[in-house]
Formats: sequence, C-alpha cells, structure tokens
Amino acid sequence: MQNFECLSIRVKHNELQIIDQTKLPHEEHWVTCSHPDIMIDAIKKLKVRGAPLIGVAAALSLAQFVESGASQVDFKEKAAELKKSRPTAVNLMWAVDRLLSVSFDRVIQTAYFILEEDIALCEGMATHGVSLIQDGDSILTHCNTGGLATAGIGTALSVIIKAHQSGKKIHVYVDETRPLLQGGRLTTWELGKRNIPYTLICDSMAAQLMRDGKIQKVFLGSDRIALNGDFANKIGTYSVAVNAYHHKIPFYVVAPRSTIDFSCENGNQIPIEERDPAEVQGVTVGVTHPIRWSPQNASVYNPAFDVTPAQLVTGGWVLDCGFFNFEQIKEGSLRELNQLNS
Ligand code: MRU
Repeated sequence: MQNFECLSIRVKHNELQIIDQTKLPHEEHWVTCSHPDIMIDAIKKLKVRGAPLIGVAAALSLAQFVESGASQVDFKEKAAELKKSRPTAVNLMWAVDRLLSVSFDRVIQTAYFILEEDIALCEGMATHGVSLIQDGDSILTHCNTGGLATAGIGTALSVIIKAHQSGKKIHVYVDETRPLLQGGRLTTWELGKRNIPYTLICDSMAAQLMRDGKIQKVFLGSDRIALNGDFANKIGTYSVAVNAYHHKIPFYVVAPRSTIDFSCENGNQIPIEERDPAEVQGVTVGVTHPIRWSPQNASVYNPAFDVTPAQLVTGGWVLDCGFFNFEQIKEGSLRELNQLNS
C-alpha cells in the first residue's frame, strides 16, 4: 500500500491505521486495521466515524485485503459486511459499491481514487461555502464535521476553517452533541489545533443563545441527503433546525455529493441507526472508566441520527459542486447531480 497521512487515517510502513476517535481528545492512539474484520469493528464502535471517512476507511480496508492476496469471493463477502457495519451514512455504501463496480484488478487504484477525491470534495465545499460567512459571525455547529469525519479538511468545518483562514474574525459555538460527545471531544480538539476561537455548550443551551442574538448562522453536515433535500444527521440536528427557524437564523447543510442518496425520494426512507442503551445511560467514550448515572435497567431509546425536513434548511445546501437554495432543490437540482457521479 502506498503511504499517505490524513488527520485520522494513514498508511504507514504498509499498515492501514486510524486514530482511535473514542480516545480523543485525551490520547492520540493509532490503531492498525490489518483485516476488514478489524475495520468493521472500528466502524461499529466509532473508533473511525463521520460519513465520508467511514466510506474512505472501508474502501482502503478492502484495498489492503486485496493486496494481501484475498480472493474475489472473500473480497465480495467482506464488502457486503462492511456495507452493513453502519446503516445511515450512505457514503459507506457508495464507496464500497464503487469498488464492487470495477474490475478486481482495479480495486486498489479505485480505493486510492476515493481517498484523493474525498480530499478534493472537501476543498470544493469550502470554496462554495466561504462567502456565506461574514466577518464577525458567530456560528453554531453540531457533531464533528472536520478532518476527523473526512479524509480532507471537512464538510461544515471546511467552510468554517476557510473563513478563518481568509482572515474573517469568527467565533464557533460547539454543541457538545449527546450522547457520544463528538462536539465536546472532537470538534473542540480540531478547532483548538487550528486556533479557531470557540465556546463549547451543552446541546440544550443553543436555543437561549439564539434568543440572545449570539448566533448568526448554523453550519452542520449530513449522513444522507434525500432527493427532496430532507437530510439525516447526528441526533439533535432537527432540534437545532427548529430552533434556528424560530429565531430566523440561516441554517446551512454542507456535504459532498457522496452523501446524496439518489435512490431516496424523501427523509422518511432514510434508515436510522439505533445504538446501545449504555451510551445514554452514562459515558462510555473518552473516559478511562465508564460512568453510569441511570439505573442499569433504565428503559432507553437511542437513535444515532434524526431527519430534518428540507423546509428548515433556510440558508441552503453547500455541496462540493455548488450552492443550492430551497427553490432549486424543489425544482429537482439534486437529481440532476447524478450525472456528475458517472
Ligand atoms: O455517528 P457519527 O459520529 O459518525 O456521526 C457523524 C455525523 O453525524 C456528522 O455530522 C456527519 O457524518 C456529517 S459530517 C462528515
């Protein structure tokens, strides 16, 4: 395998490695994923996470499997298992299906193409989104949408980073993002590394900040966009959208075209992952000793994502290939993008 290094995935000395994101921000621990089974486990446990990144990670894991001499039958079997490792982010299925669609001797080359392409798609989103942020803006974001969620600089975070790099004085309010705290643990880590001013808040504080006039815009990512513009993203996104709508704050979704599900007409068709009750009953990541605050048998509902209707995307959709508003989405502009994919 050819060497490369991104923020949270790399090939070094012929080994495919990921940063174990469950240990961040306390420890930067690289894990070797020498077999697709290890990658499947890492994806399920969110050691590697974020819609575009799990697609890239799955593709590279299959490439490494092929390079190590796997048969075509075994490759197809592991490809099918990888596709099932998480259900909501369509980028995972998109990347694996892409490998399945090429001849076996082109799997490795195609996986590296997906990696390079993801980096380029991030640049595209940043370019098309940066002018939406003005000097002096305070921006609310949810979950983690940066280099820990993509192979490049990110989706929503790419726009924020570009605005900061272009000299605009901005401030980022980071939702901690219960239950697994991707905002509190990961987005803060990334913004801190880049010296971008931020304030961490509990998810439940966002509405009050909006009413106080402290937030001018919302930027966040997506795990799957339906053709009518409805989209799935980390649980809590819908609440942010409703609150932003009430306070007339522009709400933007930022995603690469690999996040559009061209077979999905609306948000009702998006499968939503349900996760372990223990994630809600206490803290299971980012700490050395798990802490439980509810009774062990407390009844729990733990959907990892929610669906936000397109009408609440009052700012628009920032994609790698351009900006789209609600009218354009209603007229079917996402459907037309399918041609760009081929
Ligand atoms: O469960 P996660 O941490 O994989 O969820 C990630 C998100 O919801 C992100 O907002 C999403 O992938 C879009 S940004 C790359």
